[in-house]
Amino acid sequence: MEWNFRVIDNPSYKECDQLLKMSQRAFGVEAESIYFFRIFVDYGKIFATFNHDEPICVIQAIKNWNDIGNIQLVSCATHPNYQEKGVATFTHRKMLQQLKKEGARSIGVRVPPLHEAVIKILQEKLGFSVIKKLSNYYGMGEDRLYLEKIL
Ligand SMILES: CC(C)(COP(=O)(O)OP(=O)(O)OC[C@H]1O[C@@H](n2cnc3c(N)ncnc32)[C@H](O)[C@@H]1OP(=O)(O)O)[C@@H](O)C(=O)NCCC(=O)NCCS
Repeated sequence: MEWNFRVIDNPSYKECDQLLKMSQRAFGVEAESIYFFRIFVDYGKIFATFNHDEPICVIQAIKNWNDIGNIQLVSCATHPNYQEKGVATFTHRKMLQQLKKEGARSIGVRVPPLHEAVIKILQEKLGFSVIKKLSNYYGMGEDRLYLEKIL
């Protein structure tokens, strides 16, 4: 397998659609629409790993208006056929290197407290720390853990 990491800049509609469809396959019904995704592509940042021309992992990120130098990760998805092969870990590592080069100071992310896979990647493999619990963050009982890494 040949994995290539890319920062997505100026994608065509077709490329955009391909990335969104992959993300939707990984997330299922909770996936976002093209209206949000397109704005992330143009004004936030999309990091992706490809196997040849096929996107296999997508991470969405934004700059934090309240804390300059802080980046917030919004979503991460690995294509269902490529999960548990290290693709998300690879993509995060490459993204962290890229963000550091661009002068980012810290990276934050919210994860469901029982999402073992993503917590393992962030804590054990990438050195993020749990900073706080966000109770009822997305509604009653929809708690999240806030994790952060200083670059
Ligand atoms: C979470 C997700 C991004 C992980 O992607 P991935 O490419 O499979 O992750 P990696 O292969 O880099 O996995 C890193 C570690 O987590 C483990 N892991 C991955 N998926 C797992 C799962 N479903 N259950 C248990 N462990 C899992 C891997 O085994 C690996 O550990 P190891 O190296 O010690 O074996 C992917 O499962 C996904 O897209 N899920 C749906 C969307 C989602 O939930 N996104 C996160 C929102 S917070």
